[in-house]
Amino acid sequence: MQKWIMSGLFFAACTLAIVLIFFLPGKEQVAQENKTQMPEVTLNAEQAEAIVKANCISCHGDQLEGGNGPSLQTIGAVMSPEELYKVIHRGKGQMMPSFKGQLEDEEIANVALWLAEKK
Ligand code: HEC
Repeated sequence: MQKWIMSGLFFAACTLAIVLIFFLPGKEQVAQENKTQMPEVTLNAEQAEAIVKANCISCHGDQLEGGNGPSLQTIGAVMSPEELYKVIHRGKGQMMPSFKGQLEDEEIANVALWLAEKK
């Protein structure tokens, strides 16, 4: 009788361990979430232009020709959408502000796609 109880407990413990292994987020998954991941969006040029007009041209020029910030007229030849997304999301150096929280991630991704076409 006692053997049954012991093996029952053992079985329950194993089940619990397996459940924990599968359902607790692994380290890898946590690291993935901390990384800046560009959400998938389809380009909406009108929205992108409006966002850039409202947020970027004060530094990058209304033709993106540059000003306080560098020219972005041919930025697509240098940077991929993912790289653009990271710069806009996190900011760069002392002068380029981070737009995280100020713009939706999807809006940033859309602007990144739009800028990536500027070659
Ligand atoms: C307050 C001024 C300012 C605003 C507003 C601003 N930027 Fe910038 N941006 C800069 C400066 C300055 C740099 C150069 C940073 C450096 O290289 O250290 C820069 C760099 C960049 C770069 C990288 C260019 C390269 O050659 O490495 C991208 C892309 C960019 N900005 C996009 C944007 C977008 C898109 C917006 C609007 C959502 C925006 N910026 C708004 C000042 C600004």
